[in-house]
Amino acid sequence: MEPDGSLPYFTRGTVVRGFGRGSKDLGIPTANYPEEVVERLPLDIKCGVYYGWAKVDNGPVHKMVMSIGWNPQYQNTKKSMETHILHDFPEDFYGADLQVCITGFIRDEMKFKSLDELISAIKSDINIAQEKLSLDNKEKEELSNHFN
Ligand SMILES: Cc1cc2nc3c(=O)[nH]c(=O)nc-3n(C[C@H](O)[C@H](O)[C@H](O)COP(=O)(O)O)c2cc1C
Repeated sequence: MEPDGSLPYFTRGTVVRGFGRGSKDLGIPTANYPEEVVERLPLDIKCGVYYGWAKVDNGPVHKMVMSIGWNPQYQNTKKSMETHILHDFPEDFYGADLQVCITGFIRDEMKFKSLDELISAIKSDINIAQEKLSLDNKEKEELSNHFN
């Protein structure tokens, strides 16, 4: 099935602590969802890297990239949904309400030869997301209305 079958896909949940590698190892902080949010994903949203929109609590809508899957780099045993929001937050927001709208697919998850290559791939994902999401400001307005 096409990876875009269920898109746009809205979901929301409380931000929980991940494995703690996000900012330390990679310099790319990610907000993790609890298991029940991951389990709600429709079957046709396959593992991979996606882009879309995100809103933390009552804040503004920002662009985001999201990794869905098993993090082959780290051989996780649990499937995760990790959102990197394209905005500098002054501090962590564990416990906050995170609403997201996934609008497009970027690539499959991969295992890279080194952490540096993973970081380069994520930076390229961020550039792709910036570009795709900048094309359509109308989309942002329309989708923003779906956020509470
Ligand atoms: C945009 C994006 C793309 C990612 N791509 C991959 C990938 O291809 N392979 C992989 O193993 N992990 C990938 N990750 C997951 C990172 O390995 C993960 O965010 C990091 O291990 C931090 O995890 P933690 O927040 O649970 O500590 C990606 C994460 C993001 C935000």
